[in-house]
Amino acid sequence: PEATILLDPLHAVGPVRRRTFGSFVEHLGRCVYDGLYEPGHPTANDDGFRLDVVELVRELGSSTIRYPGGNFVSGYKWEDGVGPREQRPVRRDLAWHSLESNQVGTDEFARWCALTGSELMLAVNLGTRGTAEALDLLEYVNHPSGTALSDQRIANGGTEPYGVRMWCLGNEMDGPWQVGHLSADDYGKIASRTASAMKMADDSLELVVCGSSGSSMPTFGEWERVVLEHTYDSVDYISCHAYYQERKGDLGSFLASSVDMQFFIDTVIATADHVKHRLRSTKTMLLSFDEWNIWYLDEHQASDEVNDEWRFAPRQLEDVYSAADAVVLGSLLITLLKNTDRVASASLAQLVNVIAPIMTEPGGDAWRQTTFHPFSITSRLAAGTVLRPVIDSPRYDTAVYGEVDLIDSVATWDAATGRGAVFLVNRDQTSERTVTIDASSLGAAQLVESLTLSDDDVYAKNTLTDQNRVTPHPNATATLSAGILTVTLPPVSWTALSFR
Ligand code: AHR
Repeated sequence: PEATILLDPLHAVGPVRRRTFGSFVEHLGRCVYDGLYEPGHPTANDDGFRLDVVELVRELGSSTIRYPGGNFVSGYKWEDGVGPREQRPVRRDLAWHSLESNQVGTDEFARWCALTGSELMLAVNLGTRGTAEALDLLEYVNHPSGTALSDQRIANGGTEPYGVRMWCLGNEMDGPWQVGHLSADDYGKIASRTASAMKMADDSLELVVCGSSGSSMPTFGEWERVVLEHTYDSVDYISCHAYYQERKGDLGSFLASSVDMQFFIDTVIATADHVKHRLRSTKTMLLSFDEWNIWYLDEHQASDEVNDEWRFAPRQLEDVYSAADAVVLGSLLITLLKNTDRVASASLAQLVNVIAPIMTEPGGDAWRQTTFHPFSITSRLAAGTVLRPVIDSPRYDTAVYGEVDLIDSVATWDAATGRGAVFLVNRDQTSERTVTIDASSLGAAQLVESLTLSDDDVYAKNTLTDQNRVTPHPNATATLSAGILTVTLPPVSWTALSFR
């Protein structure tokens, strides 16, 4: 059987939020150094930032950028990264066992965000540091002038405050690998103190407390309950982190990874709402899915790329993504959009070279990984309101998740411009599937764009020497007649349709 989808403006979930299209830059491997920053590169500006990378970041359409970690932030002294560059110390980064030159710090990164048109989201160190240092960073970054730290920023070239709204209270503090790892109770206490103090400085800040590093963490659920009981009144978001990979050749389960993401979101919402009612609070906690991606973690852990040597910007976590990876990434983004009522912010981890949609070669090219495309197209086309489609799809069996729909989808509808978009995945590994989408209640009259990403070889990749092997192509099967869209989706594919 083929699949049918019904779109109805009554099935609105919530607004399309620009922050769903956030990204993440960590001082890790070649993300910053020899990635977005390379002073000797022919396209570098006066700050040393590669303008070819800036161009790609703009095309990617990422909104908020979380910085500077990640695990890195739990040992970071932000003061090392400001002031005259020649006086900045070299430090050891224990998280990734590498050397940090501090040539890029808060001021440079704020300028880079302005260049790319993105919103800076900062994380404070609650691993080796605490409330006082977080308050210092807040003063340095956001206070207009006339205090010791704001005047220091001005002296360092930051005339205007950076106006950072979103702040992460540490990173993955539930993880035993985290420098300064804490129990839920201990973390809840320091996060609560730090959040309250930051809000005394500025109660309009949006604060993100650490949730779980993954749904398979032994403390998942209980961590959220304990941490939120300490912090509910003073924070605005709880974070979620999730990475997926194909394991043992089980492509079917990998293609259904969004089932786990949905489970993760549902569980965190249930836990947060439980705490809300226990505390008789009127506030509803939002979710910040501020790390999500495909990451071949098992393979990296088996390699020696994080080793005993202390090196600057080593090649670490440089996953090269396939067509199948891009389809999964597209389906994860569909899931994030479907939950836009509670998932109000998200960050694809990461942005350049390190598990990233953009790759670079020192002195050479910057190019788009396969995963770049579903992200940039969704970011460009999604507008207005997210609609939850009613999907009737054939199903298939997966080893990890049981029976799963072959077709998944989400739609957006912008009443102001009269434009709509539908994003679809076909998880079928062998057959194309024709999908009929009833968009008549939206007055859909004209098909504007139809793009499909797929490859005869689901493991095909874009590389330095073959940068455009996997790119989206117009899907010539798409039609729109009397409000009904019809499209044939190739096996293992991701598709975007836009109409008006
Ligand atoms: O994104 C890579 C790492 O994944 C981050 O540093 C950490 O927060 C997570 O475990």
